[in-house]
Order: sequence, then C-alpha cells, then structure tokens
Amino acid sequence: MSDGLFLTLEGIDGAGKSSHLDAMEALFKARGRTVVRTREPGGTPLAEILRGLILEQPMDPLTESLLVFAARRDHVVRVIEPALARGDVVLCDRFTDATFAYQGAGRDFDTQVLSTLEQWVQGGRGAAGLLQPHVTLWFDLAPEIAAQRLAGARLPDKFESQPVEFFRRVAAGYAARAVADAPRFVRIDASQTRDQVWQQVETALVARGALAPESGAAR
Ligand code: TYD
Repeated sequence: MSDGLFLTLEGIDGAGKSSHLDAMEALFKARGRTVVRTREPGGTPLAEILRGLILEQPMDPLTESLLVFAARRDHVVRVIEPALARGDVVLCDRFTDATFAYQGAGRDFDTQVLSTLEQWVQGGRGAAGLLQPHVTLWFDLAPEIAAQRLAGARLPDKFESQPVEFFRRVAAGYAARAVADAPRFVRIDASQTRDQVWQQVETALVARGALAPESGAAR
C-alpha cells in the first residue's frame, strides 16, 4: 500500500473551486509532499485533445460520455495511478462526479450507462474494486450566484453557456452523489468570501486526515 492521496474538486461552473488549487498545492508541498496537479477532462496530451472536442463541439450525450471516459482512462492509466503508486498527492480539478452531474443530471443521460463506463475505466483496483478519490471537496453554490460570477468573466464554453436551469440540474446531481457517497464528500459552502471558503477547505483537509496538522502548531 502506498500513501498516495487522491483529492478532487467539484462544483458547478462559477463555484470558484479552481481558485484554491494554488494554495492547496502549497499546503501539501510545505509538508514535504510531491503534488501532481491535474484536471479533467484532460491531464494527458490525448485527454487534452479530447477536452477541446468535448468543450467545443455539439454532440449527443452518449458521445460526450464516451469521450469523457476515454479521456479519463488515458488520464488514470498514464498519470493518476502512477502518481498514487509513487505516494504522491494527486490534486485533480474534477473527476467522475462531474460526469454524473453534467452528463447524467444536466443532460439527463442514463446513469446506469455511466456506472458501467465508470466500472470499465476505474474498475479492478484496490479493495473496493473501483478507483475513487479519497476526498472530494464539493464547492456548493446556488446556480444563480454562480451565473453572476461567471457573467462577463471570459468567453463561455459549451457548458458555461447553458441556461441556469441546466446548472440547477447539475447542482442536484452533485447533491445526489454527495448523499450516495457521504464519507468521501465534503460540502464547502462556496457562497462565503474567498478567505472563508479557504478556511473551510483547510479545516476539511485536516478533519479528513488528508493533511496532518503542522507539528508544534498552537492549539
Ligand atoms: P472546468 O473544469 O470548469 O474548467 P475551466 O475552469 O477551465 O472552465 O471546465 C470543464 C467543463 O467540463 C465544465 O463545464 C464541466 C465539464 N465536464 C463534464 O461535462 N463532464 C465531465 O466528466 C467533466 C470532468 C467535466
């Protein structure tokens, strides 16, 4: 068994999850950990090419799901599993929960098919049989507020230009996933200020044992 740690960040577009990646990486590095920072769709040359297609090209939900999982397979095999085997911290901006939230709930695609693809791509590993993040930070924010934060920020991609109703379904998809796998999920109230959100992130990492408290820290 290695001490590799697989951490994912999830949430609807505009929830602000990515803005905490630098600080998270610094936190682990300060404790002597090697951090592999990556994202989905993407994280390998092939998966980044697929990302461009997924985010820009119109396609039916099955095609989209197949491409997302094809990208994930390459990412898992080439980056995530080797990093975990080395004992690194894998800090991944989105993973399979996003597929259940966006393709499953958002696009109303069959979650049984998604579960089958998840099994194919992440199956056959470890005691649980399925490669899953150890901890998932779910940045929960009302879709209306997320839309305001996104407005005018940059040119929206295929998903970001979806109506608020789409993001209501995506948010509900994340909530359902969090209930189904409660021990893995930490809900972060992303409506708070950036500093307050960061405090929640740090507290959650300590509480979940992902981040050892600094030795000699004042109590
Ligand atoms: P995102 O992670 O928000 O990156 P950026 O901050 O650069 O925009 O964008 C990825 C988009 O892809 C996001 O809208 C969610 C979508 N997505 C899916 O639809 N399914 C998936 O399985 C994943 C991983 C992402």
